[in-house]
Amino acid sequence: MTEKRVTFVSKIGVVAAAAGSAVGLGNIWRFPSQTADGGGAIFILVYIGCILFFGIPLMVSEFMVGRSSRANTAGAYHLLAPGTQWKWVGRLGVLTGFIIMGFYMVVCGWTLVYIFQSVSGSLSGTTDLSANFIALQNNPMRQIVWMILFTLLTAFFILSGVKKGIELSAKIMMPILFLLLVVLAIRAITLDGAGAGLNFLFKPDWSQVKSTLFLDAMGQAFFSLSLGMGCMITYGSYFNDNTPLVKTAVQVSLLDTLVAILAGVVIFPAAFALTANPATIVDELVAGGPGLLFITIPELFNQMPGSMIWSTFFFCLLALAALTSTISLMEVVTVYIHEEYHISRRKSTLLVTTGVIILGIFASFSSSFFNFLDVASAKFMLPIGGFFISLFVGWYLDKKIVYAQLTNERSLKYSIGFLKTYIFLLRYVVPIAMLAIFIYGLVA
Ligand code: TRP
Repeated sequence: MTEKRVTFVSKIGVVAAAAGSAVGLGNIWRFPSQTADGGGAIFILVYIGCILFFGIPLMVSEFMVGRSSRANTAGAYHLLAPGTQWKWVGRLGVLTGFIIMGFYMVVCGWTLVYIFQSVSGSLSGTTDLSANFIALQNNPMRQIVWMILFTLLTAFFILSGVKKGIELSAKIMMPILFLLLVVLAIRAITLDGAGAGLNFLFKPDWSQVKSTLFLDAMGQAFFSLSLGMGCMITYGSYFNDNTPLVKTAVQVSLLDTLVAILAGVVIFPAAFALTANPATIVDELVAGGPGLLFITIPELFNQMPGSMIWSTFFFCLLALAALTSTISLMEVVTVYIHEEYHISRRKSTLLVTTGVIILGIFASFSSSFFNFLDVASAKFMLPIGGFFISLFVGWYLDKKIVYAQLTNERSLKYSIGFLKTYIFLLRYVVPIAMLAIFIYGLVA
């Protein structure tokens, strides 16, 4: 830990890098399918509640643990809580990151396949896009090749000094992705019959409430904000002393939520407008599961002039957004092995890459294993990690450290009430509410 750690230089870079980790397939691929499954508007409402009550306070906490220790996820607990069992929270996080990569890389591979299909023109020539996606799902070898390629691409960035790569790609690519989503949203909502999709998205239908609604929404919130495994701890460890933690967490969460909802505004109106059988569309969306994005979006492009160019552009940006997320995941696991076991960065990257590829191969062959990795990480491991991080900062960490971190050694002025509210949230509200959601989700 004696070597000097790099810190992010520019202010926008800090937000961009953390936002780059947060904004990814979780927003554009996972959020829409979870929303479909969760009954539309109610899911979104509960989701936003989870972002506000759990997401933002916990993101601040992760930043805090990272910046006050300037260490990797597990090392942070060694330093801040020496000789205690808190290190297991860090280890759990590393394991979680590994499991997430196991299925995430497979979806990343799909984005590469779709870039390829867009460029070759085969995507815009296809009328049956769900058959196109099913064909991909039924071809493990093809998925494996592209999954491996994406994993190697991520490893390349990890090896070649991440900081510049992430900052730069996040700063340039994110605004473009955002603009493209706005254009697509406009196209989608001006389609005939798009109104039903908007209704589904924004008009709560209380008859749709499922018993696992809260657990599903909470899991999605953690997944989308990259919380609960120490990703933001690792990023926080690179922040400089002037980075305002609360403001950064609010900005990142806002941006992340905006992108997710925007993706919804593209996909649902398009899906409702373009379906052949409106009566069963909701069931179809739910049954379609992970394919939603990869079927509906190309269908939308086929409604637009120059569909080939649009879809190439879109899937390239999607792959880039995914890349800034996979980099953040792989960075956590690699730095952990590198710093804790004193293995060179190269070797630990190699180790992690191999492990991820093996998991990815299993996930490509079996969609139930794929789902298992998804559910285990998002609905169990991330919330459990978040639960302990809130206890750690709320109860264990010295309040002097907490206040110093929140206020950047008193250079930021927050009222005492604000600081106390933050602690109160982490001590009681967050852990108790999370426990309740957890138990309810399991037994109900
Ligand atoms: N948040 C990213 C997304 O939405 C995925 C991700 C990156 C992640 N790092 C993480 C999820 C850490 C959970 C924990 O695509």
